[in-house]
Amino acid sequence: MVHRRWLVTGGLGFIGSAFVRLALRERSDVAVTVLDAMTYAGNPANCAEVAHDSRYSFVKGDIADAARIDEAIGEGVDAIVNFAAETHVDRSILDPEAFIRTDVMGTHVLLEAARRHGVDRYLQVSTDEVYGDVDHGASTEADPIRPRSPYAASKAGGDLQVLAYHTTFGTPALVTRGSNTYGPYQYPEKLIPLFVTNLLDGEEVPVYGDGLQVRDWLHVDDHARGIAHVLEHGTLGEVYNLGGGNSRTNLEITKELIRLTGRSYDDSVRYVVDRPGHDRRYALDISKARALGWFPRVEFAQGLSETVGWYRERADWWRPLKSGEFRDYYRRQYALR
Ligand code: TYD
Repeated sequence: MVHRRWLVTGGLGFIGSAFVRLALRERSDVAVTVLDAMTYAGNPANCAEVAHDSRYSFVKGDIADAARIDEAIGEGVDAIVNFAAETHVDRSILDPEAFIRTDVMGTHVLLEAARRHGVDRYLQVSTDEVYGDVDHGASTEADPIRPRSPYAASKAGGDLQVLAYHTTFGTPALVTRGSNTYGPYQYPEKLIPLFVTNLLDGEEVPVYGDGLQVRDWLHVDDHARGIAHVLEHGTLGEVYNLGGGNSRTNLEITKELIRLTGRSYDDSVRYVVDRPGHDRRYALDISKARALGWFPRVEFAQGLSETVGWYRERADWWRPLKSGEFRDYYRRQYALR
């Protein structure tokens, strides 16, 4: 069978690897080449279950390295799906430059590769954070972007280039903006995996400020399906919001995780100094993606409980990650709070 070939950049990361596993499981006519820089969050274990599939291949490389991208594209690919990014707001406050390099420059280099090789589709995986803080209502794709953290600004820079390439050069590009994502294989620096692994280890969890900030949670499998759906059915040059429809305060999430891990509030919650410029609330209007035929399926209570179950079972996956690089980061991030 002749396969459609997708170049998935950042395919060893959290959402990227879920997309790769899903694509190989559910689309028999698709072959995947993963390009990943294998920085701290790019982990070969995330694609271990598909690594022996003859339709899977891997190239180690940075999206800002044009020669590496050419090598990964080889004789040609049908689509480029770009998950490669620095993604953690707190790290962007400690070290903004890495975000500009990957999320802005890297996107530029990939877009140039897409032009050179004439791919049929380029999909940029982005985030609801580009809309900035929304105190009421929900962001639509037509809303202005008002990024407020170095991370969000770097992602917005990527989105704007992608849309400009569509307008200027006719690059067949699409953008998805996902809400906060949770599920298995998420590096334990973000709220849910950090708190779950701390709680399982009998440690405290650092709640920023009053803990009443609101995020909308999307299961990683729903997110991956949404990206595949937009890739195959979206209108070129358009942006699609992918939100889970599960708005919760951080404190609600924290209390639920405490319950699911059998811990107690008094022994585990530590209120710490708030994140500078902390966005209070994100919320996405997903009517446009719904009209295209996608909607989130995973029920939140069940998804969260299964995620905690996964971390409970897979200490072999996360425990090594919480030593080394992570320990240094954790000290820099939390010691003075
Ligand atoms: P995070 O997972 O970093 O995602 P984002 O900043 O992209 O939304 O954080 C989710 C929310 O949880 C955010 O409001 C910040 C908060 N938070 C904490 O209160 N403590 C923590 O240690 C972390 C990592 C996040």
